[in-house]
Amino acid sequence: MSSGCPENIVLIGFMGSGKSTVGRLLARRSGRYFLDADTLIESQQGRPIPEIFASEGEAFFRQLERESAEWMARCVRGTVVSTGGGMPLVVERLREIGRVVYLKLPFESIVSRVTSKERRQRPLFGDLDTARELYDARRSVYEAQAQIVVEAEGPPERIVSEILKRLPS
Ligand code: S3P
Repeated sequence: MSSGCPENIVLIGFMGSGKSTVGRLLARRSGRYFLDADTLIESQQGRPIPEIFASEGEAFFRQLERESAEWMARCVRGTVVSTGGGMPLVVERLREIGRVVYLKLPFESIVSRVTSKERRQRPLFGDLDTARELYDARRSVYEAQAQIVVEAEGPPERIVSEILKRLPS
């Protein structure tokens, strides 16, 4: 039986690909709530992600991502979820949360729109060579998880319209 809520939309993509900006606008335009999966983990843990990485390590953070994904699949409805860039690697069935949309962008475009301060705030984005390797390793995972792939170049309004056009009615 339908819950009467629109299905969740799960935005995936590399760090800096615009998931939060597009997600907020998409939520407003489609009558959904917005939830940032990183913020969800931070509020549940009571500390920022760089601190979680520094004190407990990446594996611990990935476990938190798995747990938050299970929770979202069970408890979140009618929402646009912006995921952390690594979540598609550790959560196999993102489709159990909702319709998975990949914001696809060349690495060069990502780097040109993210400030170096914003990069340094992310534990895995400080060093550009390492980030490039991550990007190359993850592309096929993003493609495999996606139900909709959107070229995420240009203004957020255009990207949101493109997503709305391609959602099942
Ligand atoms: C990560 C991406 C970050 C955050 C964490 C790890 C990654 O989220 O989850 O720093 O492995 O790509 P954003 O994609 O929102 O920056």
